[in-house]
Amino acid sequence: MSFSNGSPSVDLPVYSGSIGPDVIDIRKLYAQTGMFTYDPGFLSTAACQSAITYIDGDKGELLYRGYPIEQLATHCDFMETCHLLLYGNLPDAKGKAAFTRNVTQHTMVNEQMQFFLRGFRRDAHPMAIMTGLVGALSAFYHDSTDINNPEHREISAIRLIAKLPTLVAMAYKYSIGQPFMYPKNDLSYAGNFLHMMFATPCEPYVVNPVIERALDRIFVLHADHEQNASTSTVRLCGSSGTNPFAAIAAGVACLWGPAHGGANEACLNMLEEIQAMGGISKVGEFMSQVKDKNSGVKLMGFGHRVYKNYDPRAKLMQETCNEVLAAMGLENDPLFKLAKALEKIALEDDYFVSRKLYPNVDFYSGIVQRAIGIPVKLFTGIFALARTVGWIAQLNEMIGDPEYKIGRPRQLFTGAERRDVVEISKR
Ligand code: SDX
Repeated sequence: MSFSNGSPSVDLPVYSGSIGPDVIDIRKLYAQTGMFTYDPGFLSTAACQSAITYIDGDKGELLYRGYPIEQLATHCDFMETCHLLLYGNLPDAKGKAAFTRNVTQHTMVNEQMQFFLRGFRRDAHPMAIMTGLVGALSAFYHDSTDINNPEHREISAIRLIAKLPTLVAMAYKYSIGQPFMYPKNDLSYAGNFLHMMFATPCEPYVVNPVIERALDRIFVLHADHEQNASTSTVRLCGSSGTNPFAAIAAGVACLWGPAHGGANEACLNMLEEIQAMGGISKVGEFMSQVKDKNSGVKLMGFGHRVYKNYDPRAKLMQETCNEVLAAMGLENDPLFKLAKALEKIALEDDYFVSRKLYPNVDFYSGIVQRAIGIPVKLFTGIFALARTVGWIAQLNEMIGDPEYKIGRPRQLFTGAERRDVVEISKR
């Protein structure tokens, strides 16, 4: 590596992965040159090595442990996907049944958990509640979780995957003043979540198989995504040796942001705003705001740090939209039509084409969740529920790597140089 400030050049090792860009090992750069690299936002920085998920942003390709997302979303379900992400392989029928039974037997939360909800106002945002509840889980397992013990890491993974749906459903029930519904072990993962969300003690609740399958696919599509902001948060938080529940709570907090997992809620709100302004006839006016840098308006659900082509999850989410809306008799859903019109206009507009901005996973997910009856404010909670398996798989991969160290980035300091305090009477 040569430098523009006249410093002597240094030789740095270059490593190749199985697929994707090579990396330059800069770990000795500071020792050899007294300089840091500078990469706020990590546009060109690999923070770790991983064997879990690979994205080819130019092709619009997403692989979970080598399997294309299109094939997993079509031929597998969320339990198989969880097994794949955690252990590196798709289970056979016996392995899937054992894994599913293990998850099912951990879906209840400690009865004390319900009292945490009472501290929140009924209209509290579900992600505020989830950040609190997932962090609170650590209080029930802190003394029994040695993250350096592989069995403890395994049971923590199962507990988190099993309990997140229960907590998300509790946050929803609390917001509408209905009693919490206990998990039902004879239902599928997605079916049980629908039951906990929409059943009441007053009458039987029958899971709609079309919605059950659609929700399961939504979980598969959101399960993992390389070193995105919330996964990097979980890794950095977990690198201090903290309780895995606390690390996942940090991931929930990061995912909430509208630039990340909060984009599905922001996208649905954006569609409703345009609809209220007059719908498709107002799209041109809205797009002018988006293209005006000073407006601060973004086309939510569009653009991605890695994808410079169509997010494959967005395509699958649009298909799921079609299926669910047809099953619900909502083929003419105005927001779905508006979203498709927005997408068509954006994909033909040079502002978006030149910046390689395409729909991402969040563009259609809100429409299908809304059709299922999930309230807009809960969309990111569903994203967190599904991403928990990816977070815990990535955390366990890091902790299982003997090379890992606590993450501690450096900085380019631009503040005041050393100076002495002056007595207040003389300031
Ligand atoms: C997720 O990382 C992951 O993998 C995340 C995720 C996952 O599964 O974990 O995929 C989930 O978070 C998906 C992204 C959801 N966010 C949104 O939909 C919010 C809207 N999108 C943008 O905020 C933005 O596209 C980001 C945050 C997603 C990516 O931002 P980058 O990579 O930092 O790119 P950028 O902001 O520098 O944008 C490049 C240019 C800029 O214009 P110029 O400075 O070149 O003139 O494109 C513009 C941006 O202003 N731009 C947009 C835009 N996204 C980028 N302009 C209008 N609308 C948008 N949505």
